[in-house]
Amino acid sequence: MSEARDNEGLVYIETGDGSITLADYETGEWYHNSAGAFKESLVNYAEPAIALLGAEKYPGAIALLDICFGMGYNTFTFIEALMQTDLPASTIQNLSIKAVEIDKSLIPAMIKTLEQPVYPILKSSGLNLAIVEMLRELLKNGTCQGRVSMIPQGVSSIDRIDFEICFDDLRLSLPALLAEEKHCYDLIFHDPFSPRKFPQFWTLDIFSIYRRLLKEKSGKLFTYSVADAVRSALALAGFSVYRTRALGRKTGGTLAVADATGSNSFGLNLIPKELPGLFQFSPELFFVLDENELEKLTPRQAVPYRDPGLSLDRAAILRNRQNEQDLLSQES
Ligand SMILES: C[S@@+](CC[C@H](N)C(=O)[O-])C[C@H]1O[C@@H](n2cnc3c(N)ncnc32)[C@H](O)[C@@H]1O
Repeated sequence: MSEARDNEGLVYIETGDGSITLADYETGEWYHNSAGAFKESLVNYAEPAIALLGAEKYPGAIALLDICFGMGYNTFTFIEALMQTDLPASTIQNLSIKAVEIDKSLIPAMIKTLEQPVYPILKSSGLNLAIVEMLRELLKNGTCQGRVSMIPQGVSSIDRIDFEICFDDLRLSLPALLAEEKHCYDLIFHDPFSPRKFPQFWTLDIFSIYRRLLKEKSGKLFTYSVADAVRSALALAGFSVYRTRALGRKTGGTLAVADATGSNSFGLNLIPKELPGLFQFSPELFFVLDENELEKLTPRQAVPYRDPGLSLDRAAILRNRQNEQDLLSQES
């Protein structure tokens, strides 16, 4: 796989499907699955989200929260795929997307991502250019928030698109989001670096806030992680948990539907064996957790990462989880 450094010092790596990614400076962890950055955004996020929206006959207004926006693949691929879906005129009157990302130095990478040939409709609709201009303006004027609001050209199915990006720390931004946008979102794409290296972004406390940001019953969260601590935290926060399609060497991702009731004690019955009856699921996109996955979710493995004040560091979160697991072992 080839690497190329641009003028800003960002080192781009070509992934398996020809699309580019970056590596995290501190940990060396790649931003995307080596099988394909574009493919990952399609398989883990855009494709299953659109299939579920389609099963619900597409709500007239769709609100998406894209957490850890990075190079922007998840949002860009979602919009592109939605625009390529054959829908009657004005099916979606408003598509509004809010993105949260801490690192402003990624703006050139966002622009570079948009310029790839995988986004032809974003380009022809004028959205591509509008977002690039907004991002360039952000770089110039130093502000931390940018917004684009437009009627996409030549796209009849989506009347209006509002896109907003906030450069902020995820954990600091959540309380304000919750105060202003309770039960507003149809979708959350959750894409931080891995739970092992950054447990602070995979806590029961963050997922509980997401549960309240999502629309009751119909809201959905997508993530690439299949970690036991993540799935159990989602179940404890009041989500039903499913697996999404595998990509590359990974066994799949996770879909969490905001239709269950949380519980203080982890119970495997929170993960239903059947998919919600209303949806026409495509069997290739979603799976109930199989025996293997359920067996792995022992009470010990299911202890979630906790961070009630949204302020603990990695070491404290890992230590507290270990202590909780040790207590469980002593009790049994
Ligand atoms: C796996 S990458 C995301 C890839 C991205 N979704 C995409 O499609 O390109 C993880 C991202 O989390 C961001 N991040 C790290 N710490 C953060 C924080 N405290 N708040 C918000 N974003 C953070 C990183 O800057 C990085 O862009």
